[in-house]
Amino acid sequence: MTIILAAGKGTRMKSNLPKVLHKLGGKPLIEYPLHLAKSVNSERILVVIGSQSEMVRKAIEHRHGNAEFVLQEPQRGTGHALMQCLKHLAEHRGPVLVMSGDVPGLSGETLEGLLRSHVKEAASLTVLTAVLEDPTGYGRIVRDGSGHPLSVVEQKDLQADQEPIKEINAGVYVFDSAFLIDELPSLSDENVQGEFYLTDLVEAAGRTSRKILTVQLAEPTEARGINTLSELAEVEKEMRDSILRKLMENGVRIVDPSSTFVDDSVTIGSDAVIHPCTFIYGNTRIGSGTVVFPGAVITDSVVGKNAEIRPYSVIIEAEIADGAAIGPFAHLRAGSVIGQKARVGNFVEVKKSVLGEGTKVSHLTYVGDATLGREVNIGAGCVTCNYDGFAKHRTTIQDGVFVGSGTMMVAPVTLGTNCMVAAGSTITHDIPEDSLAIARARQEIKKGWTVKWRKKMTQKSDGEGT
Ligand code: UD1
Ligand code: CA
Repeated sequence: MTIILAAGKGTRMKSNLPKVLHKLGGKPLIEYPLHLAKSVNSERILVVIGSQSEMVRKAIEHRHGNAEFVLQEPQRGTGHALMQCLKHLAEHRGPVLVMSGDVPGLSGETLEGLLRSHVKEAASLTVLTAVLEDPTGYGRIVRDGSGHPLSVVEQKDLQADQEPIKEINAGVYVFDSAFLIDELPSLSDENVQGEFYLTDLVEAAGRTSRKILTVQLAEPTEARGINTLSELAEVEKEMRDSILRKLMENGVRIVDPSSTFVDDSVTIGSDAVIHPCTFIYGNTRIGSGTVVFPGAVITDSVVGKNAEIRPYSVIIEAEIADGAAIGPFAHLRAGSVIGQKARVGNFVEVKKSVLGEGTKVSHLTYVGDATLGREVNIGAGCVTCNYDGFAKHRTTIQDGVFVGSGTMMVAPVTLGTNCMVAAGSTITHDIPEDSLAIARARQEIKKGWTVKWRKKMTQKSDGEGT
C-alpha cells in the first residue's frame, strides 16, 4: 500500500493553486509520487487530500482511476493526514510506503531499495534520509552516541546544538501497518507549529523498542522538497539539465542548454539539432536529423526525419513527415498532417488538414478543414473559407492542382486533379480535372483616362482660388 500526502495548503507557495498541482516539467507535482507508486506495484494507492480537495481530486482522477482518496479536514499536519488513513490501514497487512506530494525527484530504484531494506530487516519504520550541504527547512535526523536514530526534529523546533546536523528527513517512509495502527493515535500536537507531526513516529518507535531503520540517499538531490516557487524553479532547472544531458548523450545537438526547454516525455533522434529558445512539450517525437530553429514551440506532435522547423513556428498536435519544412512563422494546429517534403511557409496557418507529399503552401495562407493531394501549389494569400457561421465545411484539392495567389475557396468545394485557378478567384463551385477556373471580374482598360482625370482635378482646385 502507498499513501501520498497531498492535503497541505502549500502556504509558502503564496499561490491560489494547490501546491501539488503546480507543474514541474509539464506535469503537476502530484504526478511524480503517483507514477512512483505504480512503478513499485502498489496494490492500493491512497491520496490524502484536503486543501482545495475537489480540484486536486479531479486532476488525479482522470489519469489514475485506481487511486483512492482520503479526506483530511482540517489539515493539522502530516501525522494528522496519516491518522485519516487508519480505517484503511486496519484492512492491510505488511509494508506501507508513505510519500509527500511535494518531493518529485525520487527514483524508482531508491524506493525499491527502501522497501527491500525494510522487509529484509523486518523494521517497524524505515526512513529515507539525505545529507545536504544546506539542510535549512528540513526535519533533521537526531542520533545517539552510537549512531542510532532517536528522533526527527523540525526546523522550527531545533535546539541550538541540533542546528549543525546535516542529515535530513526526505519525507519518505516505509511503515509496518501494525506499528502505525498502534502508534498513530498517540501522536501529540505539542510543538511550535501546533501540528501532529508524522515524524514523531520515529521517537515513538524508539520509546516502544521497535526497530528503526534509516536509508541514506546516494544522490541527495533526490530528496529535494518543493515548498516555494523559487525551489520549484531550481528543481525545474536541474530536471531540465538532466533531460538535455541525456538527449546529448544520445547524439542530439542542443546548441544552448540554458535556453532550451524539453519535457521528459519528448523523444528526439540522433543528429537532430535543437537551436536556442525552443520549447518542445508533451508527447512529442522528433526524428533524427531534424533541425528545430529558434523560437519554435512544439507540443504533442510527431516530426519525422530530416525535417526543418524554421524560426518562430508554433506546432500543436500535428504530424510532419520526413523532409518537410515548416515556417518561419508558421502555425500548425490540431489535426494538421504534413506529407513528406511538403512545405508550409511564413504566415501560414493550417488546421485539421492533410497536405500530400511535395505540396507547397508557402506564404500568407489559411488552410482549414482541407485535404490537399500531392504536389499541390497554393499561391500567396489564399484562404479555404471553411466556416459559414454555423458549421465547418471541407475543401478538397486533388493532386497537382495550382491555385493562383489571392484565391478564396468557399467550402464545401473540390478542385479536381491538375486543375488551375487564376489568381484572385473566388471559387464557389467544383472544378473538373485538368481545367482552368477564372472566377473574377474581367479587366477593363480605359486608355489615357488618368491624364484627363488629373487635368480635371487640377482645374477644380485652381478654381477654388485659395
Ligand atoms: C516535512 C517533514 C520534514 C521533512 C520534509 C521533507 C513533517 C512534520 N515534516 O516537512 O521532516 O524534512 O517534509 O520534504 O512531516 N500535508 C498533508 N496534510 C497536512 C500537512 C501536510 O497532507 O496537514 C502534506 C503536504 O501536502 C505535503 C506533505 O504533507 O505534500 C509535506 O508537508 P509540508 O508541509 O510540505 O512538510 P515540510 O514542512 O516540508
Ligand atoms: Ca514540503
